[in-house]
Amino acid sequence: MAESPAQKTSTDSLFEAPLRIRIYGEPVLRQTAVPISEITDEDRQLADDMLATMYTRSNGIGLAATQVGILKRLIVIDVNRHDLDSNPLVLINPEIQEKSGDTTMEEGCLSLPDITGEVTRPENVTVTALDLDGEPLRIQATDILSRAIQHEVDHLNGILFIDLIHPLQCKSLQRRLRRLQRESRQFKSENGLN
Ligand code: NI
Repeated sequence: MAESPAQKTSTDSLFEAPLRIRIYGEPVLRQTAVPISEITDEDRQLADDMLATMYTRSNGIGLAATQVGILKRLIVIDVNRHDLDSNPLVLINPEIQEKSGDTTMEEGCLSLPDITGEVTRPENVTVTALDLDGEPLRIQATDILSRAIQHEVDHLNGILFIDLIHPLQCKSLQRRLRRLQRESRQFKSENGLN
């Protein structure tokens, strides 16, 4: 998830991202990720690389493995990344167990650069997951953390925030989405990526 406004800033290019963030239009973003049955060093490395990739974007506060082209149920979140004592969360096989309330907030996404939209979601969630050592976690989240968890869990199910916004608002986004899709296809063919 990207903090709003999801705009590129001058700090974005200071660091090289270890992983390539997939952009709207790439089919992997619509696929369902698979649970991790045994946590390996490869998964720990993936979590590290995902955090490093997220931190190269000045407004990145959450990233799902799907967004780097890996269909594993792993997400990273750091909603306090600008604080000195920020503590990134790595959640493996996250599952939202309880939801309550309703709140509307503007969201952005690193896979949808320069696009934001108002999304209504449950205000509070309880999520269970495993940490990188395989220890069970149970987190009660509200506000931006709740928002980020829901946004990233959606990615694991192939859902993007634009699927959840009001149809009228979505209509005004169609042109920008089509352009993004075109650009992402062009970028991939120019760079020989798949
Ligand atoms: Ni996102």
